[in-house]
Amino acid sequence: MNQEDYAPEDAYDAESATGDDAEATRRDAGEAESSRASRGWWDRNADDYQSEHGAFLGDDRFVWGPEGLDEEQAALLGPAASLKDKDVLEIGAGAAQCSRWLAARGARPVALDLSHRQLQHALRIGGEVPLVEADAGRLPFRDGSFDLACSAYGAVPFVADPVNVMREVHRVLRPGGRWVFSVTHPLRWAFPDEPGPEGLSVAASYFDRTPYVEQDEQGRAVYVEHHRTLGDRVRDVVAGGFRLLDLVEPEWPAWNTQEWGGWSPLRGNLIPGTAIFVCERD
Ligand SMILES: C[S@@+](CC[C@H](N)C(=O)[O-])C[C@H]1O[C@@H](n2cnc3c(N)ncnc32)[C@H](O)[C@@H]1O
Repeated sequence: MNQEDYAPEDAYDAESATGDDAEATRRDAGEAESSRASRGWWDRNADDYQSEHGAFLGDDRFVWGPEGLDEEQAALLGPAASLKDKDVLEIGAGAAQCSRWLAARGARPVALDLSHRQLQHALRIGGEVPLVEADAGRLPFRDGSFDLACSAYGAVPFVADPVNVMREVHRVLRPGGRWVFSVTHPLRWAFPDEPGPEGLSVAASYFDRTPYVEQDEQGRAVYVEHHRTLGDRVRDVVAGGFRLLDLVEPEWPAWNTQEWGGWSPLRGNLIPGTAIFVCERD
């Protein structure tokens, strides 16, 4: 990534769409609208995200989600010793914390993100990880470029066509390559996104796939999240050409006393907050 590659005219009108007075609703949002909203939202909110969560994420830690499950203990990409000399694609990398952890284990990570501002935070933190500004739905790599791919809450929850992302990841992986990604646990969609007791009562249908959209006064989406049921996610993985090896639902550990948005010790002790899909390409 370098400054010249950034085309500000492509970015969604970030000046007017601050998201501050956005209206929250549930409505359809296609691929282009979702991508544009994500790029604008993460560009505008990257600074807040990194200052709020940067200490928890660590500069070179690989955390799968707000529960704090570390790749160091979970080894979902394989034993740490097996990562040496592996080409790894991190999708929705944010400030590339996970990629830095991979690089420290001798892997060759590439950190990809849609948001220029998130990648600027990767530059601020530093390290030797190559950064690529691109959409997960159109990966700018040749077929069979990577041994492994991973994503901690990056891209997958925000795209309208997750099967397309699965197919793209399948294309750029070598045979036998592992693809591990985490998303909000689908069960959470039935509950209000609140960390306290109000987040413990079912308020919506788990089966309603209508996306969550925040929109500006002109009705343009400024933030989009797409809901898939657990079964949908499994079918997406299979439709993308992968075998599902494991589905990890991290439990809330006693040491973690922090809240992260709607994730909290209270809710984490009762219902799952994160789903991690461990997949393998044929
Ligand atoms: C919740 S953050 C996670 C970032 C990082 N993995 C972490 O754990 O801090 C989601 C990231 O996904 C990126 N993202 C969203 N949609 C994307 C897309 N379609 N393609 C690539 N990245 C995307 C955002 O820009 C953001 O950096």
